[in-house]
Amino acid sequence: MPEPAIRVEKVTKRFGDVTALDNVSFSVDPGELFFLLGPSGCGKTTMLRILAGLETPDSGTITFDGEDVATRSPYQRGAPMVFQNYALWPHLNVRDNVGFGLVERGIPRREIHVRVDDILGRVGLDGYSQRLPGQLSGGQQQRVVLARALVVNPSIVLLDEPLSNLDAKLRGDMRTEIGRLHEETDIAFVYVTHDQVEALSLADRMVVIDKGRLTGVGNPSDLYHRPPNRFCADFLGRANLLPATVSAVEGASIRIETPFGEWNACSAPGLTWEAGESVLCMIRPESVTPGDADGDGNGFNARVETVQLAGATLEIALSDGDTRCHATVLSRYAAPITAGQSCRWHVLPENTVVIKQSEDETGL
Ligand SMILES: Nc1ncnc2c1ncn2[C@@H]1O[C@H](COP(=O)(O)OP(=O)(O)OP(=O)(O)O)[C@@H](O)[C@H]1O
Ligand SMILES: [Mg+2]
Repeated sequence: MPEPAIRVEKVTKRFGDVTALDNVSFSVDPGELFFLLGPSGCGKTTMLRILAGLETPDSGTITFDGEDVATRSPYQRGAPMVFQNYALWPHLNVRDNVGFGLVERGIPRREIHVRVDDILGRVGLDGYSQRLPGQLSGGQQQRVVLARALVVNPSIVLLDEPLSNLDAKLRGDMRTEIGRLHEETDIAFVYVTHDQVEALSLADRMVVIDKGRLTGVGNPSDLYHRPPNRFCADFLGRANLLPATVSAVEGASIRIETPFGEWNACSAPGLTWEAGESVLCMIRPESVTPGDADGDGNGFNARVETVQLAGATLEIALSDGDTRCHATVLSRYAAPITAGQSCRWHVLPENTVVIKQSEDETGL
């Protein structure tokens, strides 16, 4: 097994009485597109600045390729950081902004010219080399910043909310381009965002951070479909959270009692469950399907309270007396789901996820 490109072990960082990072550990494989995801103020930028060498942790260790980097300056770490606010030199044109790191490294002028032209082509900025940053759009400036980080051929690039200054359309385009640029290189990208769609759509793997603590780690599909706890369930998308009790456990299969009936369920790996335990049952609205299940689906009767057309989907609120549950189904012109109906619904056991009631029980 190759050494991870980055290993973060038990890192804690305090600013006065604020604990920005609390005993955080994770590792990033070489060439991986790795995301740090979490709400504003959870410690993402602090983590990235510690990796870049711009901030010192109070405790814990950081290794790059198996070597402790505590004594290395930001320059010696060779992990350029792409800041949210571009940080381009306004008086230098695009060529000089991008080539700056190569000049600092003493690379010959001719080689700098070739490498800058190559990277400008790859970020879609052919023909822009003479422009000043002030003569570029936000998206173009963002490309220059990316080009400047990638041109030095680092093994790690650190990106702090690189798309947050862009409008929605440009953000979507740039997201795709960052994914493509990453695929063309063997550079490990550590990408910070508070936007779960950005993380879910691009990440090879990701960690979810809540108030300085790691609450989830895994690939996007596992974390979205089998969140280990309530914070991950809520932060990564819409979630129905029903009170439930474990009635039996058999290997990976968990039987639970919910307000809608007794169901078969599953959970994130590594969690243990006991009969009689009070838990939450998490179901994504798009996993709630009208009609009876074939085979062993978890069927239930519920009354349709409201139906809202949201274009491609119908957003449906269901209830069974005191308990509410939301369903998202594809809208069809003739779809006969109307408010006031009582009908059958089902959820597959693999989409019926048991989570702990308390975040502290998830053991990360
Ligand atoms: N230099 C500092 N001095 C004091 N407190 C700080 C400092 N830097 C960060 N903090 C605090 O540490 C916590 C984490 O901040 P950080 O910038 O890492 O959050 P973030 O997840 O990047 O948030 P955002 O999404 O808003 O950028 C916050 O409570 C912040 O106020
Ligand atoms: Mg930040």
